[in-house]
Amino acid sequence: MALDQVEAISRDGVPDRRYFRTPATAPGPSGPQMLAHLRAIRRDPLGFLQEMTRAYGPVVQFPIPSPASYLVSDPVAVRRVLVDRSRSYDKATVQYRSLSLVTGEGLLTTSGDIWRRQRRMVQPAFHRASLEAVVGHAAVATEELLARWGDMSRGAVIDVDEAMMRVALETVAASLFGTDLSADADRLARATLEALDVVVWSAQVPIRLPAWTASQRTLRRATRELDEAVHRMVERRLAEAEPRADLLGLLVAALEGDAPIPLREVRDELVSFMVAGHETAASAMTWALWLLAGDAQAQQRAIDEVSEVLGDRRIQVDDLPRLTYLRAVIDEAMRLYPPVWLVTRRAMEPDVLGGREIPAESLVIMTPYLAQRDPSAWADPERFDPERFLGEQRGGAAHDAAYWPFGLGPRMCVGKDFAYLEATAVLASLLQRVRVGRVPGQPDPKAVPLVTLRPQDALPLVVTTR
Ligand code: HEM
Repeated sequence: MALDQVEAISRDGVPDRRYFRTPATAPGPSGPQMLAHLRAIRRDPLGFLQEMTRAYGPVVQFPIPSPASYLVSDPVAVRRVLVDRSRSYDKATVQYRSLSLVTGEGLLTTSGDIWRRQRRMVQPAFHRASLEAVVGHAAVATEELLARWGDMSRGAVIDVDEAMMRVALETVAASLFGTDLSADADRLARATLEALDVVVWSAQVPIRLPAWTASQRTLRRATRELDEAVHRMVERRLAEAEPRADLLGLLVAALEGDAPIPLREVRDELVSFMVAGHETAASAMTWALWLLAGDAQAQQRAIDEVSEVLGDRRIQVDDLPRLTYLRAVIDEAMRLYPPVWLVTRRAMEPDVLGGREIPAESLVIMTPYLAQRDPSAWADPERFDPERFLGEQRGGAAHDAAYWPFGLGPRMCVGKDFAYLEATAVLASLLQRVRVGRVPGQPDPKAVPLVTLRPQDALPLVVTTR
């Protein structure tokens, strides 16, 4: 949510005159009402979006000077933006511009012809055959995690958020860059997270921060580290005799192909994939563990399935179709806690959404969080119930735009299969050895929507050898 835009209204306490030029084409809060909500927006942005939809309906207009900004939750309208008329909406939005301060011009944030060329270039790294190795990398990363934990027979409190971030990093680095967490992949991840922190934080501060502030210095340093780590990874790869078919291999080949891409683009893609593929998968796995820890029956069922399918051996890609309950747990966790909670687009031309006129240049804000907890689409939506995703009723949603954790249409997540392979392999490998439980007296973690939906601080769970 473009909080800095909202605050443009209140800067110096004087309403921004441009605000009055935005035509009102849909219901929504007035400027003063919005200002009164500012603290609520900060405290609980998701609750705020839910509240706005409840109060004003499926298309809400925010009193933002420029661009005209709409929260769209009507499923037909969401489909129209992301699928049916996707060519009329691009990613030139405040959200993606902020991300591109870190990612540069990579697949996640570009639009139009550049995006189409980039997607074609990286797609082979995400074909089923190329992805088989993900399962092995995820299993090894989890076994190493279990080894680091050591003897858990008496149970120990573990921050599973940190643990899943580590496992996701090792999996993504090994699968896409072919590194077994070399110092450079580790630095690439650290510097990416550091830079993202600054970007997310800056987006919540109403003024543009001067270059000398500590946070801007951190951003510059992190960006420099990113560049250096990528250059070293590329150089090492170029020195190898045999080409490899992972993402880095494809990009390095493109450096020297018929239509060579610049080194800058390799850097931007690697960072984009780190941003898109690391924290997202970690978030899905963390929430799945939290939910299993609070539902003994569901956890036992998942453990029984894992024991039956795998016994004691390491998971392989062929096992996945038989781990149906575990897959349903992952789907249900992403329903309640969609890692990518915010999806935005710019209208490139005028349109009509949910019966409301949307002027060209408008910002359209959508979130799977609202759709996936919508009581008109889901029975008892707040309840954790993996059964919804089993058998005939798979999904149980009233329509396909009621469940879209990976997005919809041509810009849908290129890493969707990767994410399922990874999450299933990690959770299965964990449940083979341990059980998770909530820490007695522990309050529910607050889900904070930053780049992804993450628990506010750590997420401690009691982990015990089975
Ligand atoms: C549970 C984990 C994940 C979730 C929930 C998720 C979700 C999403 C969503 C919602 C989008 C679309 C954003 C939009 O339309 O504006 C997206 C795009 C993307 N995701 Fe994922 N993602 C996950 C994991 C991954 C992984 C593991 C990778 C890479 C290894 C990845 C790479 C990407 C890329 C590159 C894009 C941009 C695709 C394009 O625009 O062509 N994601 N993801």
